[in-house]
Amino acid sequence: MGFDPVDLLFGELCMLIKRKRGWEIAQSLATPEALFRDRRRLCQAIAAGPLLAPTVAAALAAGLRPVHAQEADPSGKLYPFKQNTRYSLDRPITDEKLATTYNNFYEFGSQKNIVREAQALKVRPWTIRIDGMVEQPMEIGIDDLMAKMPLEERLYRHRCVEAWSMAVPWSGFALKPLVELAKPLSSAKYLRMETFKDPKIAPGQKQTWYPWPYVEGVTVQEAVNELSFMVTGAYGKPLPAQNGAPLRLALPWKFGFKHIKSIVRITFTDKQPKSFWEEIQGSEYGFWANVNPKVPHPRWSQATEQPLGSKERVPTLLYNGYGEFVADLYKGMDEKKLFM
Ligand code: MTE
Repeated sequence: MGFDPVDLLFGELCMLIKRKRGWEIAQSLATPEALFRDRRRLCQAIAAGPLLAPTVAAALAAGLRPVHAQEADPSGKLYPFKQNTRYSLDRPITDEKLATTYNNFYEFGSQKNIVREAQALKVRPWTIRIDGMVEQPMEIGIDDLMAKMPLEERLYRHRCVEAWSMAVPWSGFALKPLVELAKPLSSAKYLRMETFKDPKIAPGQKQTWYPWPYVEGVTVQEAVNELSFMVTGAYGKPLPAQNGAPLRLALPWKFGFKHIKSIVRITFTDKQPKSFWEEIQGSEYGFWANVNPKVPHPRWSQATEQPLGSKERVPTLLYNGYGEFVADLYKGMDEKKLFM
């Protein structure tokens, strides 16, 4: 992978070890998911000894049912949103319990079961700053923003570079009207998005070798594509904290690491943003990250995927099956870059 361990600082070395462990799912692919999770938790409990046992028991209990941040979320009464039937699925919707308990949210830990830790995230009040190359920078509360946006539900496929996938009923609004609200200058070419930074509630952010806060970006052209969706809910309810409440991105033709969670800032800029994972390892996580079964990630073939909850692997589709909506965005561009 082009690393010279001698040159690595200790922190970077820790990060590499952590990353390999955190994103490694080979074992879960060979074993039914629930069994894998419980076995791993059991191992953790044994390793942690009796002092940690109650914590592990609580995490196990939390993992047995979907956990939602609904109690603290005044938008609960708005749900469910009307489904937009333009976006249909070729597979069953992933079980809600799986989609809300098998998560990547490094702010709360590098393992998949961060449900319990993520409940520390306070989703109200929640303000989003919109700034950079816009006519008038603004700060807007999530409920005021939702009141201005056309709310709907969409069934989207969700494909992680680790080669697992889900099919999720997301609720939210298209990113395009948010771009229109922001009134970007014509010189703005990209949107740079940022997650909250608060190591007091997010233990992962105490790991200073990661370049916090989590950052992701898209071009303005991608942002106004009809598929780009700002997610506020899932399964007809407000988004659970662990899935990125109260506002996360969904770009179904790109790998899941582009789907930045718990967004607090959107900056319009003429410079291509450097994302969190690109900063850590640019040769593995590029800016475009469009799904292509023929372009393997250095550690995971992308030819097939494992829909969570199913025992069958299925072929992965170019642009995750959304080529009719997005292929035109990339006409004439260098294919070597587009899929990394
Ligand atoms: N956003 C933040 N802020 N922190 C993260 O660690 N992980 C990304 C993405 N967004 C991540 C994030 C990755 S790698 C994936 S695959 C998806 O979130 C997972 O979303 P899910 O947990 O809702 O399935």
